[in-house]
Amino acid sequence: MNRQRSLSGIRVTGRFHLGNYLGAGVNYVRLQDEYDSFIFVADYHTLTTKPNARDFEPDLYEMVMDLIAIGLDPGRTVMYRQSQIPEVAELSLLLAMVTPLSWVQRVPTFKEKVRDQPDNVNLGLLEYPVLQCADIVIVKGDVVPVGRDQAAHLELTREITRRFNRTYGREVFPMSKSLNNIVGVTDEPDVIRKQVLSMVTDVKRPRKSDPGHPRTCNVCAFYKFFFDDWERYWELCRTAQIGCQEKKQILAQRIIERFEPFRQKRSELTPAIIDEVLADGESRARPIARATIAEVREAVGLRPSPD
Ligand code: TRP
Repeated sequence: MNRQRSLSGIRVTGRFHLGNYLGAGVNYVRLQDEYDSFIFVADYHTLTTKPNARDFEPDLYEMVMDLIAIGLDPGRTVMYRQSQIPEVAELSLLLAMVTPLSWVQRVPTFKEKVRDQPDNVNLGLLEYPVLQCADIVIVKGDVVPVGRDQAAHLELTREITRRFNRTYGREVFPMSKSLNNIVGVTDEPDVIRKQVLSMVTDVKRPRKSDPGHPRTCNVCAFYKFFFDDWERYWELCRTAQIGCQEKKQILAQRIIERFEPFRQKRSELTPAIIDEVLADGESRARPIARATIAEVREAVGLRPSPD
């Protein structure tokens, strides 16, 4: 009877764009039909690169509005701010005790950050995947819709939880499965058009009269998402009956139409509504988090949390 849980977190990076929508958003929306779905704003994680949460607060609201606009239904998806579930931080600390330092040191995203922000190589960056593991297992997520770039983090989540279970001799955490996926969705039409028209197309097709290579063309890849009859367009491209520019015009128009309801929905959202949505999500996620922490404390041999 109990449905499986899907969960994903999003760092605060600004507005949701076409890439986020196709890479993640579509799946979030789809998964809420089949799973008990949890989506949270990873504000603790964001602090690893932007040390003052006040600075990204406005972006946080924009993002949640975008998520609702593309079809996340706060009635079905529990949406919350990570930092409003402080049990996550405690769980992350306890998971750190069973995580060998060498495991986190070899994570590629950590090495990247060391390169990207040499002046701010904080301990939080090293601990990032442990916190992510805590996010997932605090609600005992079964499925985690993320992009391929998160593969190493999910692998680590599996290793850490396995090690936790082994150390304390009980199956506190089920093994989570990964689920890899593959233009500001609520932008104004002219912004979308401009973005689509500036997309890189087929680099091996210098002239319109040359046959195209849809398989390796970025724009043709988008046709798969936006057109049921994408194969027809691919054929037109392959046989040089349609040019790259024209393909982009048609695509832009289609995206504008497809996203029109999102834009409409978004215009109805206010910060006060978002506050309500997050508060509601927090009140639904918190009891789950508390129950997990109670179990974890018991496994580790600690007393229950003081209230
Ligand atoms: N690290 C993820 C990213 O950068 C965001 C994230 C944080 C996350 N915690 C998570 C994703 C838990 C899935 C599950 O995209």
